[in-house]
Amino acid sequence: MFNTMTLTKAFGALCGALLFFLLGGWAAESLYHVGGDDEVQGYVLIAEDAESEAEEEEVIEVAFADVYPTADASSGERIFRQCTACHRLDPGVHGVGPSLYGVVGRQMASADGFSYSDALLALEGEWTPEEISAYIENPRAYAPGNAMAFNGLRDVEDRANLIAYLATAGE
Ligand code: HEC
Repeated sequence: MFNTMTLTKAFGALCGALLFFLLGGWAAESLYHVGGDDEVQGYVLIAEDAESEAEEEEVIEVAFADVYPTADASSGERIFRQCTACHRLDPGVHGVGPSLYGVVGRQMASADGFSYSDALLALEGEWTPEEISAYIENPRAYAPGNAMAFNGLRDVEDRANLIAYLATAGE
């Protein structure tokens, strides 16, 4: 049978054991630090950095043509909000930029009633999904001197989804 004395002893033993583990853990930790832990830590950090750089490169290497076939137009509709300050999808309605109604497959710089910059007028060909992707990734680099004051959409999946959405208008 337990009596108060036994319980007290058991409790005391438990506390003693806990204290022992705490002290032991603390001692082990301080020893570990003395043993050049900092160097080990530095090495681990470098390894992680190298890994995340490799991941970034992989993302950049994803080709537009690989992503576009599975692009999601409804996600693209959300991304299109970045364009609505200047563009409408309604036919013939121009803002700061030309209407983007039917722009996928349209001749470059050909919307009636919009006055394009010389840089855009100098382009030849039609706006295939690939060309639109290249333009909106980096408008300044694609057509130096063009009038679209947009920084660029770096994420290839965002561009694919957005262009899939543009393609739903004016087909
Ligand atoms: C700050 C205003 C602005 C924003 C934001 C903007 N654009 Fe433009 N965009 C323009 C202007 C202005 C032009 C005409 C450029 C010229 O004539 O040099 C243009 C031209 C274009 C063209 C060529 C159309 C044609 O008829 O040849 C496409 C395609 C286009 N924009 C797509 C987009 C998309 C997609 C977005 C959103 C990711 C976007 N733009 C965001 C202002 C903007």
